[in-house]
Amino acid sequence: MKKEMCEDYSEAFARYYDILTQHKDYALETSALNELVDSLKIDQSCPLIDIGCGTGTHSIKLSRLRKNPISAFDISPPMLREAIAKRSRVIFFSGSLLDIDTSAFSFAYSLYNVVNCITELAELSNFFLQVNRRLKLGGYYFFEFWNRAAVLEEPPVIVTRVIHSGREKVIRIAEPDISCLSDGILNLVYKIEITDVNGDLSQFESLHRLRLFDLADFQRCLRVAGFEINFCRGALPSLSENIRNERMLSILVKKTGEPLL
Ligand SMILES: C[S@@+](CC[C@H](N)C(=O)[O-])C[C@H]1O[C@@H](n2cnc3c(N)ncnc32)[C@H](O)[C@@H]1O
Repeated sequence: MKKEMCEDYSEAFARYYDILTQHKDYALETSALNELVDSLKIDQSCPLIDIGCGTGTHSIKLSRLRKNPISAFDISPPMLREAIAKRSRVIFFSGSLLDIDTSAFSFAYSLYNVVNCITELAELSNFFLQVNRRLKLGGYYFFEFWNRAAVLEEPPVIVTRVIHSGREKVIRIAEPDISCLSDGILNLVYKIEITDVNGDLSQFESLHRLRLFDLADFQRCLRVAGFEINFCRGALPSLSENIRNERMLSILVKKTGEPLL
């Protein structure tokens, strides 16, 4: 039996990311994202950017629903390799947000827990500031994140999923470390066990360090970064207005000026 230990969005995790997220309805989420972009009257010629695109599923689906040029960025080269291998018209790239043209985009989005991968408040502020600089004045940024209040009320427990993909069986055990949850720190260890078509077993573990910011932190950082908040709702696809019991939330902001920093 092969056993590996890896951190975050490394090669092994990236290879299985799409299988491990099969419980998410990317088609429905993208359709709701498309409606959101439509509601903002963003012309089909305006460039869009996915920040933290992972394996690119949302952006590739969105590129089939809209004509807009779509760029997609991630800090994990293995995740991007998976996205590029899907062969779409989306322009995928890695590196740093600083390498991306300023004032180029009308709409930016970071879906699922991208912003929760940022573990320090100062880093979060800088991240929003860099996103602001990539947007045109009047452009929008939409992002999703874990609802800290709901998670504190009902802390995560060990969750096991058994997924059949082709002729492989994948077991994913998510083990949360909630010892520092009151400080917004959630470490998740994913234990992945794969049984291939010949019955051979391989395993790896992947550690994900997440930070759950509270709404006031987001509001402060966004204001300083030159954004005005349009809404705070449930995540895609529902964008529910009643957020109290939603474990994932979303915020839509508009660039109303340059960062104050
Ligand atoms: C849970 S995945 C979400 C991927 C994709 N958005 C989705 O919904 O499937 C989080 C992604 O955020 C990326 N990420 C984390 N911090 C980032 C940052 N500062 N800039 C860009 N990407 C980041 C990770 O590499 C990872 O691919």
